[in-house]
Amino acid sequence: MSARTQGKRLPKILVTRKLPSSVEQDLTAHFDATLNETDSPLTKEQLEQALYDYDGILPTAAEKFSASVLSKPGLKCRIIANFAVGYDNIDVEAATNAGISVSNTPGVLTNCTADIAMTLLLMSARRASFSERYLRKGEWAGFSPTFNLGTRVTGKTLGIIGMGRIGKAMAKRCYFGFGMPVVFYNRSRIDLEETKSFGAVQLNSIDQVLSEADFVSLHCPGGPTTRHLINAHRLAAMKPTAHLINTSRGEVVDEIALIAALQTGTIAGAGLDVFEEEPKVPKALRNMDNVSLLPHIGSGTLETRTEMGMKAADNLKAFFAGKPLPSQVKI
Ligand code: GLV
Repeated sequence: MSARTQGKRLPKILVTRKLPSSVEQDLTAHFDATLNETDSPLTKEQLEQALYDYDGILPTAAEKFSASVLSKPGLKCRIIANFAVGYDNIDVEAATNAGISVSNTPGVLTNCTADIAMTLLLMSARRASFSERYLRKGEWAGFSPTFNLGTRVTGKTLGIIGMGRIGKAMAKRCYFGFGMPVVFYNRSRIDLEETKSFGAVQLNSIDQVLSEADFVSLHCPGGPTTRHLINAHRLAAMKPTAHLINTSRGEVVDEIALIAALQTGTIAGAGLDVFEEEPKVPKALRNMDNVSLLPHIGSGTLETRTEMGMKAADNLKAFFAGKPLPSQVKI
């Protein structure tokens, strides 16, 4: 029985962006939910005001809740149910101090995000973005044995930074699908038996992984500790023939350093789904032929976006029923 039929005041929820319709139906059945039918992004001011007006907010990773906003007095909001596995958009410590619970959506976007990392790896290796642009522009003059050659993927070494769920899913795709040996860096030790089962070897430093890999795929969380983890020095540690794939967070890579590395041949190519200042993508990147670019679509399938929404809804329902959250983010 929903809270509405029990005659209780329903918690007031703001859903910041348009969600798949089955999720919106579920949210309106359980909450006094304000939906975003036009899907237009909220202004910073609207988002701040929402903290005073709603019991709960369901935001996406693009909406930022900083410590200064979360530490203001008189906030009504008690839960931020993030529509993302990453939560670098929320200062969780400040939220916790303000008595606001935070939840995320782990598990449901693992495979789709790894699929996009694999897509970008293949696109970058095989110059797919350039090739398609060139064909669509009508410039293709026919088969040529030497023009526009990419690099073989099969058997090349994959380097993973951050061996969490998505890192493992990417490693499995590369190892089982493309016969690629896998080396990786992870802050904590990962169970040897597990990683051996998909041919992955844990190395002691990021630089070691960068220097051994032909393709480096980033799967670490965003946030202050990983900001510009891949900087000019780290790019210089990569092979000049190597490609960088980023489906994690734009801020993990120093974009200016990356542009320079691509322009000077420090590395061979890049496949990017995330950017430092989304939706801004530097013109220099957009102009380069050795770069494949996607507009943050790692989790962008109907199935996954529906599961993410349902997971956020489950966290809201648990919270307002006074139960433990299925996926609470803790400091
Ligand atoms: C998407 O970018 C996520 O973190 O879920």
